[in-house]
Amino acid sequence: MEPSDLKTNENLQEAGTSSKTPGSLLNKPVSRRDVLKMAGIGGLGLLLGGGAAGALFKGTKAFTRKESVLNAGRTNEKVHPFYGKHQSGIITPSQNFLCFASFDLTVASINEVRELFQKWTLAAANMTQGSMLGDSAANTSLNLPPADTGEAAGLIPSRTTITFGAGPSFFDSRFGLASKRPAAFPDLPKFRGDALQPQWCGGDIGVQVCADDLQVAFHAVRNLARIARGSAVLRWTQEGFQRTGAAEPANGTPRNLMGFKDGTGNPDVNDAKLMDEVVWAQAGDGAAWMAGGSYMVARRIRMRLEVWDRSTLDDQQRTFGRYRDSGAPLGGQDEFDPLDLNAKDAAGQPALPVTSHSRLAHMDGNTKLLRRAYSYSSGLDAKTGQLDAGLFFICFQRNVSKQFIAMQQILAASDKLNEYISHVGSAGFACFPGAAEGGYIGDTLF
Ligand code: HEM
Repeated sequence: MEPSDLKTNENLQEAGTSSKTPGSLLNKPVSRRDVLKMAGIGGLGLLLGGGAAGALFKGTKAFTRKESVLNAGRTNEKVHPFYGKHQSGIITPSQNFLCFASFDLTVASINEVRELFQKWTLAAANMTQGSMLGDSAANTSLNLPPADTGEAAGLIPSRTTITFGAGPSFFDSRFGLASKRPAAFPDLPKFRGDALQPQWCGGDIGVQVCADDLQVAFHAVRNLARIARGSAVLRWTQEGFQRTGAAEPANGTPRNLMGFKDGTGNPDVNDAKLMDEVVWAQAGDGAAWMAGGSYMVARRIRMRLEVWDRSTLDDQQRTFGRYRDSGAPLGGQDEFDPLDLNAKDAAGQPALPVTSHSRLAHMDGNTKLLRRAYSYSSGLDAKTGQLDAGLFFICFQRNVSKQFIAMQQILAASDKLNEYISHVGSAGFACFPGAAEGGYIGDTLF
C-alpha cells in the first residue's frame, strides 16, 4: 500500500460551505448532511410536495460536482473529484477502507451497457461528493421505495472514490468489442502455486470503492448494484481495511497483517512523468480508447497467519528482506533507503536474501507497478478453523504482461513468502480513462 499522504494529493478539493435553504434544495442533489439538517428544522415532511411521481432515481439528470450541495455548515472537508482526465482511486492516496465489487452483465446489447454506465456515472459522481441519490421528492415519498438506501445519510463524503474497469470477458463476442481488447490486457496465466477458487475470480466489470468510512463505501456498492438491477448482477465482493488515520495521525506507511510496512517501495504518485511511464495507458500503446486509463490486477491472497505467527522474527525479516520495526532493507538504516542488491552481511552472504520478497519484486529496478492493496478478514475457514484473512492485493499498471505477469512469474517461482500465502482469487480490469463532466465512464469505448 502506498502511504496515505494527504498533503501531497493534488486531486483533493476543498468543499465549500453551504447556506442553502430547504426550498433551494428541491431542485438540487441533496447532500447527505442536508437531509439531517432539514429533519432538524421541521422533519422530512418539509421536503414533501415536490411530487412523488417518477421519483425514483432514473439517472437521467446530470448531477455535476458544481451543483452538489456539499457538507452544509462544514469547511475544509476533503472530497475527491469524480470527473477528470483520470479516474480517481488509482494514484489517489489510499483511504482507510475498500469495498470491491465484481459484476457480470446480464444485458445483451452494447446500448444497454452504455445506459448502465451512464446511470452509474451520475450516481457515482453524486456519491463521491456526498450527495443523496435522487432528488428530495424521490427520497421522501411515502408511496415508493426511497431512491437512496439511506445508510449514508448525514455522513460526509469521506474521500470516497469509485473506479470502474472492464474485465477480459467484457471483450468476448456479446457486445462486439473483441477487436477493442488492448494487447496490454491479456488473460492472466496460471502461476505456480495458484489455488484460485472460482467464487473469487473474474467478472465483466470491476468497481473499486474506497472511502475513509466503511459504511459510506458499502453504501456506494449497494446502490450501484441496485441501479444495475436488470442489467448486471454481483459476482463477488470483498471488503478491505488498513489502519485508520485516526489511529495513526502521523500517516506513515501502513502495515499489513504480517506486521510489516507495506507500500514503501511504491513509485512516487506525485511524479507525473513516472506515472505516465508506469501507470497510465498512453494513446500510442495500441488501444486509443484506454489513453489515461490503467490496467488493474486484483488478487485475493490468503495469509497462513497461524504458521506465520510461529516463525521467528529473523525468518520473518528474511522473508521480506526488511526489518519489521523500521521497514528498512536488511543491512540498511532507514525505511526509504534504496535496496542495495550487492550488500553483504557479516557472513559474506547477500544482506537481502536471494529469495526475499523485496529483492525479487524489485526485479531489475526498472519494472514497477503501483500497489494499492488492503488487508482483509473474512471470518473463519469453516473447514480448518483458521482465519480467512490476508491481503487483497490491487495494483495498477500500463501493461499487464510486462509488469504484473513478469513480476508474479518470478515471485511464484522463488519467493520465500510463498510458504505463508496462497493466491485464492484473481481478476483483471481495464480501468477506463476519467470522464469529462457531461460525459460518462466508458464513453471512449462505447
Ligand atoms: C500477501 C502478499 C504480499 C505481501 C504480504 C507483500 C508485502 C510486501 C512488503 C512488506 C514489501 C516491502 C515494503 C514495500 O516496498 O512495500 C513488499 C514490496 C513489494 N511487493 Fe509485495 N507483497 C505481497 C504480494 C505482492 C505481489 C503479488 C506483488 C506483485 C506481483 C508484489 C510486489 C511488490 C513490489 C513491486 C514491492 C517493492 C519492491 C521494491 O522495493 O522495488 N507484492 N511487498
